[in-house]
Amino acid sequence: MYWNFGDILRGPDTPPFRDTDGPLAVEIGFGNGEFLERLAAERPGYTVVGMEISQWCIAKGARRALAGRLENIRLVWGDARYLLKYAFDGECVSEVFMNCPCPWPKRRHAERRVARREFADLLASRLVLSGTFTLVTDVDWYAAETRDVFAAAGTYEAGPVTRIQPRGFSTKYERKWLGMGRDIYEVRAKKKKSAVRGTSTQKIREELETMESAESLLAATTALNEESFRDLVRSLEGNELENSDYKVVFREVFFGAGMSALVKVISIDEGFEQHYRVKIVHADGRLRAKTDSVGHPYRTPGVRASLRHVTRKTGAEL
Ligand SMILES: C[S@@+](CC[C@H](N)C(=O)[O-])C[C@H]1O[C@@H](n2cnc3c(N)ncnc32)[C@H](O)[C@@H]1O
Repeated sequence: MYWNFGDILRGPDTPPFRDTDGPLAVEIGFGNGEFLERLAAERPGYTVVGMEISQWCIAKGARRALAGRLENIRLVWGDARYLLKYAFDGECVSEVFMNCPCPWPKRRHAERRVARREFADLLASRLVLSGTFTLVTDVDWYAAETRDVFAAAGTYEAGPVTRIQPRGFSTKYERKWLGMGRDIYEVRAKKKKSAVRGTSTQKIREELETMESAESLLAATTALNEESFRDLVRSLEGNELENSDYKVVFREVFFGAGMSALVKVISIDEGFEQHYRVKIVHADGRLRAKTDSVGHPYRTPGVRASLRHVTRKTGAEL
C-alpha cells in the first residue's frame, strides 16, 4: 500500500513551527505513537508535533496519523535535543511531553540523557510563559535528577516527583514496566519567566541572505575548464573550520559529468552533527554552490559557514 505522508513530515526545508500554527503540543520520543495519537485526538485545536530520532518510528507515526485521520499531527525526524532549536520559533510551544525515555544509567553515557541542563535551557526558549514540560518514567533517580535540573535552571517552577497510579492510558513502555511490577513517576515543570535565547529565525534568515549574495559572487566565475574546475573543487578536500559554536570538516569530493561535483561535509553545531553534500556545478558560464537535494541539512551556523567557505575558497582560487 502507498502512503502519502504529504504535510505530516516537517524538516529542514519547511518553516519552523510558530505561534500562528495554533497552540503547539510536542511529544519527544513518541515510539509507536500511541500517546501522540491520543494527544492529537484530545486537542483538536492544537498542532501536535512528534519528535523521534528513529526513522522507523517516524514511518509508524505517520501511518498512524493517516489511518486515524488526525490532521493536526506533524512529525520531525531527528534528535529533539537539538531540533527544538531549529524546528520551532521562540516561545511558541505550550506543552512538551516525554514518556519513558532511556535513562542512560551509566555515568559515561550521562551526556546522552535528554533531560540535561542544556535541554532545560533550550526548552525554556521554546515554551510560552506558563508552558509545561512533563516527564513520565519508571526510574526514580532519573525523575529526581530531571526535577533538580529544571529547578536549577531558574526559569521553571519544578514540581515534586510524584508516583502516579496507573492512568486510564499508558504507553507501550509504561505497560511494560507496570507489567514488571515497577512504579511510574511523573515530574512537571512550568515555565515561570521569559527566556528567549539562541539563534532567532530572523537571524537565520538574515544570514541566509548573506549566503545568497555570496553565491552570486561565485556565480560570477566564468573562466573555467574541466581540469581547473576539478583542481578548484579538490582544494576543498580536508578543509576544516572551527570556532566556539561549530566545527566543519570537508571530506571527499565526487565528480559527476562535465563540471559538476559533490563535496561531502560534516558540520557539528554544539554537538548536533549533520552529514550532507554541497553540490558545485558550472553551467551557462556560471558556477553555483548549494546543499544537495538529498539529505538536506538544517541551516545551522555550521552549515551556513560551510557554504560561505565554498564560495570564498573557490572564488579566491580563480
Ligand atoms: C524507551 S522508548 C519510549 C517510547 C514511548 N515514549 C513509550 O513510552 O512507549 C524511547 C524513544 O525515544 C526515542 N528517542 C531517544 N532519544 C531521542 C532524542 N534525543 N530525540 C528524539 N527521540 C529520541 C527513541 O527512538 C525511542 O523511540
